[in-house]
Amino acid sequence: MDYKQIIKEMTLEEKFHYLTGADMNAGYKLERFPIERMRYHDGPFGLKMKVKDNSRKEMMEKKVRSAFPNAVKGDEVPSTAFPTGCAMGATWDEELIQKVGNALGEEYHAYGINAILGPAMNIKRHPLCGRNFEYFSEDPYLTGKLGSAYVKGVQEKGVSACPKHFAANNQETGRHDVCSEVDERTLREIYYRPFEMVVKETKPWAMMCAYNRLNGVYASEHKQLLQDILRDEWGFDGIIISDWGSVKNRAYSLLASIEMCMPYQEEAFGQLQEAYSEGIIDDQTVDAALERLFLFYDRTKTVYEESSCDFIQHHEIAVEAARKSMVLLKNEGHILPLDKEKLHKLLVVGEGAVKPYIGGDGSSRVENMTQVDIPLEELRKLLGEQVCIEFMGEDKVNAYKNTIGQMETELVEKAAAADAVIVFVNGNFASHSEAVDRNNIEIEPNMEHAIKACARVSKKIIVVLNVGGAVSTYKWDFCAAGILVSWLGGQGMGKAIAETLCGINNPSGKLPETFPKRLEDVESLKNFPGDRHKVVYKEQLMVGYRHFDTNHIQPDYEFGFGLSYSEFEYSDLTLEGDELTFVLANTSEVDGDEVVQVYVEFSETSWTSHPKQELKAFQRVFVPAGMSVRVGIELTEEAFAFYNTGLKKWTVEEGVYRIKVGSSSRKHVLCVEKEVKSNDFITNEGQFV
Ligand code: GLC
Repeated sequence: MDYKQIIKEMTLEEKFHYLTGADMNAGYKLERFPIERMRYHDGPFGLKMKVKDNSRKEMMEKKVRSAFPNAVKGDEVPSTAFPTGCAMGATWDEELIQKVGNALGEEYHAYGINAILGPAMNIKRHPLCGRNFEYFSEDPYLTGKLGSAYVKGVQEKGVSACPKHFAANNQETGRHDVCSEVDERTLREIYYRPFEMVVKETKPWAMMCAYNRLNGVYASEHKQLLQDILRDEWGFDGIIISDWGSVKNRAYSLLASIEMCMPYQEEAFGQLQEAYSEGIIDDQTVDAALERLFLFYDRTKTVYEESSCDFIQHHEIAVEAARKSMVLLKNEGHILPLDKEKLHKLLVVGEGAVKPYIGGDGSSRVENMTQVDIPLEELRKLLGEQVCIEFMGEDKVNAYKNTIGQMETELVEKAAAADAVIVFVNGNFASHSEAVDRNNIEIEPNMEHAIKACARVSKKIIVVLNVGGAVSTYKWDFCAAGILVSWLGGQGMGKAIAETLCGINNPSGKLPETFPKRLEDVESLKNFPGDRHKVVYKEQLMVGYRHFDTNHIQPDYEFGFGLSYSEFEYSDLTLEGDELTFVLANTSEVDGDEVVQVYVEFSETSWTSHPKQELKAFQRVFVPAGMSVRVGIELTEEAFAFYNTGLKKWTVEEGVYRIKVGSSSRKHVLCVEKEVKSNDFITNEGQFV
């Protein structure tokens, strides 16, 4: 297709229309040319699309109805609800996330969609941000690696990913207009870093700008952000899609290099016409944007061809991702896994057991899942007839509201008679939703009350945290012998929870965010969510574990923490050049995965301030029971670099750095020092050689 020729033949009116959406999710249709309409859809964890917008109705009939007949109903197309970002972040598994990306790419391709509006890659600056459930982590390196895996997976299937929301969109309060005021080093090392990694490692075909202003300029008009940094410095060659309704003036956003203004905005056409007549925008600017749009079209044009999509396989991938996201926080007396030979009576408490909370609210919410696994049903399947399972749900537990009533008597009696009690604590759409920030990190009072009531008569209590982000546990976790975090783990979460509790799945997830005891311990609380106009990131680099570790603050559970049914031992650490190697032994009788983590402490002779330590590498390693493996991890100069705002580039100071290896940010089992003699390996363009 000769796109340059098409641009030559397009009228100015067609050009202006083509640079703005035609409805909520589609671009403009050029009737005079053999160009199909482009579609951009949410969400990052599963397709949201009205049946009326589906041009592939036979696909639903053929491919979905054969696998999940009940899913072909309602006004939303059937799709697979994969685990949300908080759960994907807990897997620390690039290969798995790429596989999820593949499955998402196949579903979006089968429905003929050019771009998935994901991954959501903002940093969890503060645990109260309502959209944290969509994001991977508080750490930029983990976010960048998992976001890159997701983009690779999606784009391998011919669908464009669209990392979002660029940049410094870290709260929902006032998100459309609040001005994030952030210093350059903090932007480079924390808030830009995941986007820089994903652009350099995967070349996404699209990116989405944020709503907010950044240091005084709307992201949608921020030429320095979108042109100078994203395009000129990092080499991004895709299209920039505005967040929905984030464009204030279409001409100014075009000058900042936004190619697609979504959704349809009536005033956009007139703004372009007026700016063109006043010479504010010219043919060169307009045609350059169209060329990038047609390059995007050419990259994604296979979506207009029929393709395969196996919804049953996708459900299995959703279950696998949920399995690997499970984080075991506590397992006192090895209460887990449940032993059905010794377990005769089990009490299950909490509505989450029958109504699993698989995702949060807002644009990422999948409406018509192909199926949803129910934890209680999955438990019954695995524990069989010999275990008597009693359930007390919403009607009973909600009756508490902190009052001692008839229900509590029943709950205590049943707990006393049970060999174990499983309490499902689930968040709610009020606490994990777009456009709304949370107001606390406590669990629901009635669930805390139920846990404490059961603890009066039982030591065999297991709490399942079906939540979308950090919760404070210190007020009640002494009542529980076991604590498992299932996150908002998608449609397969129910099966994964049951398999983990029963030992079929060995938990291997690690916390991708700090679980603080108190909100007051979080440094950014002093500046969250700011005043009506601005939010100043005064904490700078002190985000998450960077703050807790630098200031010796004890969280409930640290970044990178997670237990296993296996036991792992680390030994024999060596560093030769860039190659870090050590031996990882599984001393238990259970095969298992361990996510090994590598943190770097900056040189004490440094002439600038640094966080106490930073995550610089990780690897998920499978070790069979009773076996050992030698792990090799490459640690390049990037691991010792920081962004030097004076030199306007990444640099490394000479000095001695401590490299710590272990199973969490606080459990460093091995340590080795590295002396860096020179810092001349980074070019003046700020690129790593
Ligand atoms: C929303 C969200 C963005 C989403 C878009 C389309 O406001 O910020 O993540 O993809 O608009 O729904």
